[in-house]
Amino acid sequence: MDREQSKTIQWFPGHMARTRRKIKEVLPQIDVVAELLDARAPLSSRNPEMDALTAGKPRVLVLTKSDMADEAATRRWVAAFQKQGTPALAVDCKTGRGVNGFVPMLREVMADKLAMWEQKGMGGRPIRALVAGIPNVGKSSFINRMTKGGKAKVEDRPGVTRQNQWFVIGGGVHLLDTPGVLWPKFEDQTAAMYLAFTGAIKDQVLDGEELACALLTVLERDYKDRLIERYKLDDSAFCGDSWELLQTIGRKRGMLVSGGEVNTERAASTVLDEYRGGKLGRISLEQP
Ligand code: G4P
Repeated sequence: MDREQSKTIQWFPGHMARTRRKIKEVLPQIDVVAELLDARAPLSSRNPEMDALTAGKPRVLVLTKSDMADEAATRRWVAAFQKQGTPALAVDCKTGRGVNGFVPMLREVMADKLAMWEQKGMGGRPIRALVAGIPNVGKSSFINRMTKGGKAKVEDRPGVTRQNQWFVIGGGVHLLDTPGVLWPKFEDQTAAMYLAFTGAIKDQVLDGEELACALLTVLERDYKDRLIERYKLDDSAFCGDSWELLQTIGRKRGMLVSGGEVNTERAASTVLDEYRGGKLGRISLEQP
């Protein structure tokens, strides 16, 4: 779709360079990396440099916002990641669903190391985990949940990482939030688009109508029934042209301007708001 491809999202290599440096600085203190991914788009919400940045460290995946994603798709994602050898867990930090599996998952991936520490008489040593993820993926919400929403105990490690806050959670685990900003895959147009649908990338970067049309294309492909139900459409609304579909939705909602034309800007923001607000149900943009 040309409409979808016509804008390039800017990103700033300088930010990533600073983050790279900060992560390198803390890495020697990290035992395991907990990479947070948005359950609705686990591939698009990955930082493209994550593997390289944290090479050699054990890794677990936490699929956040699972309350907004398609449950069946999330189950398949978790299974697919596990099959590739990376333990994964779906969580909902609004209610806390799933978070109890986090510490056991860490302890399991660290089992050999823990046994070794035990042998060396370092049994009480905490597991230090880096909570890594792109902005808005839910890092603070997850850390808050893990510290039970209460006041997190903050450990100072003077001289080493003065500005880094460690959060002590149960089960002998300490968490560190990503130092710096791990940008998403801005250069990947589809990934950027999916993140814009979810609101992780701000709208002003993209044209609202273009974005809504691109979202409608994805929804028509995977969740056509939801569109039919929500906007009282029939099959004739789906003629393979999402711009037409947007107009039909606008017309159905009575969003007309003088002369009887559809106010497509309003229709677009309605579609985006309703998707983001969960009015179309739980939707996964990417399927494994
Ligand atoms: P970050 O530290 O990685 O940048 O992300 P943060 O925790 O700030 O979360 C970004 C947004 O995502 C917040 O919404 C937060 O409430 C929401 N969020 C995080 N985890 C979940 C989840 O599991 N389920 C749902 N439904 N939402 C989640 P916000 O609009 O910025 O703030 P607010 O809605 O909390 O006011």
